[in-house]
Amino acid sequence: MVQYKSTKQSTRRYSASTFQCLLVSMTLFVVCLYLGLAVIYISAPNDSDADYYDDANRSSVKTEAQESFELSPTPAAATKCLGNNSECCFPWSVNLDEWRTHHPDWGVTRSERDIYCLSKFNGRKATFFRNLYKLQWGVAVNDHDRTMALPKRNCSDLLQNLQISSGMGRSIKAVMNGFITAFEQGRPYQLNRLRNTSKWMYATSNTSSWGYCNTTSLNCYTLPIGNCINTYGVDDPVNNYGFSSTNNYTWFYEYLMRFNHQTLYHIQEEISKVSQIEKLGDNCTVIHVRRGDSGLPRSLARWYVGLIEYIRIANIRPEDPVLILTDDKTTIYEAKVFYPNYNWIYMDRPRVNITYGGFEGLIPSGDEVQEFVAIYVEMILASRCNKIVHGHSGFIRELMAFCETVRRVRGLPSQKYYKVVQRGMNSTERKKCIQSGRHYCAEKMIDEIYREAAEGLKNRSIHN
Ligand SMILES: *[C@@H]1O[C@H](CO)[C@@H](O)[C@H](O)[C@H]1NC(C)=O
Ligand SMILES: *[C@@H]1O[C@H](CO)[C@@H](O)[C@H](O)[C@H]1NC(C)=O
Ligand SMILES: *[C@@H]1O[C@H](CO)[C@@H](O)[C@H](O)[C@H]1NC(C)=O
Ligand SMILES: *[C@@H]1O[C@H](CO)[C@@H](O)[C@H](O)[C@H]1NC(C)=O
Ligand SMILES: *[C@@H]1O[C@H](CO)[C@@H](O)[C@H](O)[C@H]1NC(C)=O
Ligand SMILES: *[C@@H]1O[C@H](CO)[C@@H](O)[C@H](O)[C@H]1NC(C)=O
Ligand SMILES: *[C@@H]1O[C@H](CO)[C@@H](O)[C@H](O)[C@H]1NC(C)=O
Ligand SMILES: *[C@@H]1O[C@H](CO)[C@@H](O)[C@H](O)[C@H]1NC(C)=O
Ligand SMILES: *[C@@H]1O[C@H](CO)[C@@H](O)[C@H](O)[C@H]1NC(C)=O
Ligand SMILES: *[C@@H]1O[C@H](CO)[C@@H](O)[C@H](O)[C@H]1NC(C)=O
Ligand SMILES: *[C@@H]1O[C@H](CO)[C@@H](O)[C@H](O)[C@H]1NC(C)=O
Repeated sequence: MVQYKSTKQSTRRYSASTFQCLLVSMTLFVVCLYLGLAVIYISAPNDSDADYYDDANRSSVKTEAQESFELSPTPAAATKCLGNNSECCFPWSVNLDEWRTHHPDWGVTRSERDIYCLSKFNGRKATFFRNLYKLQWGVAVNDHDRTMALPKRNCSDLLQNLQISSGMGRSIKAVMNGFITAFEQGRPYQLNRLRNTSKWMYATSNTSSWGYCNTTSLNCYTLPIGNCINTYGVDDPVNNYGFSSTNNYTWFYEYLMRFNHQTLYHIQEEISKVSQIEKLGDNCTVIHVRRGDSGLPRSLARWYVGLIEYIRIANIRPEDPVLILTDDKTTIYEAKVFYPNYNWIYMDRPRVNITYGGFEGLIPSGDEVQEFVAIYVEMILASRCNKIVHGHSGFIRELMAFCETVRRVRGLPSQKYYKVVQRGMNSTERKKCIQSGRHYCAEKMIDEIYREAAEGLKNRSIHN
């Protein structure tokens, strides 16, 4: 049992074993394999991070600093707040979901085997997060904000849109579009569902799973973003925002994706299981290979692309560490068998076999929670790399948003993107595919990719 005191809620008790399915908060990981933290210290967050209070006066600073201290766990659980940015670390047994929910200007900046750490944001970013919070919750975060006129936030003005049950990229894009539109219109936002039984593809209905919550939507994995209640079926018009690397886009994304404690913990656990992770380094290349259902002869069918195209376009050399993100087994097979001397790193997890998973066969493990965690493990690892090589996929937008967000927090430059050309099927080809059976064309494409890759391997071995 861990106890902490909150000025807002008096004393609350948290049990490390009975994790509540509180919807919860952001997660920027600095994946760091530093396990040498033998001693865990105790102290108050210090007062040196003045930049954070750029819009507040000094008396507010004191109030907030004291409040932070009181909100910290009791000494048995607390750790020292280290460094210039007052990074405060906690053992995983301390669940700070509720505290984090109501401290929007703190983010998770480190996640390791034994601890995770939070830091306060600075300047404009902190102001942005507090304003967003105020709009979403109708209350101010600190004394300074309290003295400012609150927006006339009224849940009757709630903007809601349906969270599409589709691949991760499309689903998150829908929520982002709603969230940003709402903000621009000065309205609070909630994601919504068609009816109370419409489950999101990546949410589980297994009530025994840690990832279960009764909304069966994205917010089972995150901190609650606000306190207005959605009305099933309402789908307000929203604008369409493409991925952008502007601050405000990545900030909306960051606020939305503040993972809850359970999600953070399970992602961290899975990261430590990725084999070869030590080879990844921080000068790696990501390749995202989408096969799966994109080989079905539907109107959007595209030809699969062999790894050789990825290798060529980004000039990948055998010694370069390459993280493979793929939904498909044949990609892993191709990498292992035909490019055996390359430095591939990938998660060991269930994947679909080309089109045999069917349309949107995105849960090959049968466990939505495992799939969700796997995707974010891969994204966290991907955020360490400098280059992203990809084909046509909606997931890329989210990958870019995620990586950009993490890299901004860490002060790293944006990644370089390379796009491989992926030809669509023309009408004659599509007709032939349809006539020849559901998996015919996908199998043909894979055969051709393997054939060319085998030839390439032979050529390279002749030359060496
Ligand atoms: C500073 O804070 C004090 C106490 O909360 C308040 O009375 C005062 O108006 C504030 N000054 C400014 C410039 O916000
Ligand atoms: C704190 O900031 C100073 C000056 O910016 C820098 O020299 C020092 O290395 C920083 N310390 C830590 C622990 O980050
Ligand atoms: C909220 O808005 C609704 C409709 O716009 C209005 O009827 C209601 O009085 C408002 N409530 C508050 C507390 O302003
Ligand atoms: C959905 O709502 C109906 C009636 O409004 C209720 O009977 C049912 O139990 C609800 N289902 C869930 C999963 O909450
Ligand atoms: C539901 O989740 C629990 C806990 O993870 C697991 O043991 C059980 O097998 C799952 N049930 C189904 C039907 O997947
Ligand atoms: C869903 O769970 C929350 C608490 O997690 C509870 O307040 C709410 O009433 C539940 N809703 C339904 C429809 O069961
Ligand atoms: C986001 O930033 C752009 C440019 O920096 C600005 O034009 C736009 O109004 C901002 N949108 C929001 C919702 O703050
Ligand atoms: C990073 O890798 C690229 C090859 O992908 C290489 O050209 C470059 O020198 C490397 N940079 C560093 C800092 O190691
Ligand atoms: C994919 O499925 C086909 C048909 O069942 C099978 O022949 C092939 O070996 C499978 N490939 C992989 C990599 O599992
Ligand atoms: C479709 O592509 C094939 C090559 O695969 C080509 O021979 C054929 O002419 C194209 N048909 C049309 C209608 O563009
Ligand atoms: C292999 O080498 C032959 C002969 O040089 C060449 O025609 C062919 O394009 C090469 N194939 C690949 C996949 O590199």
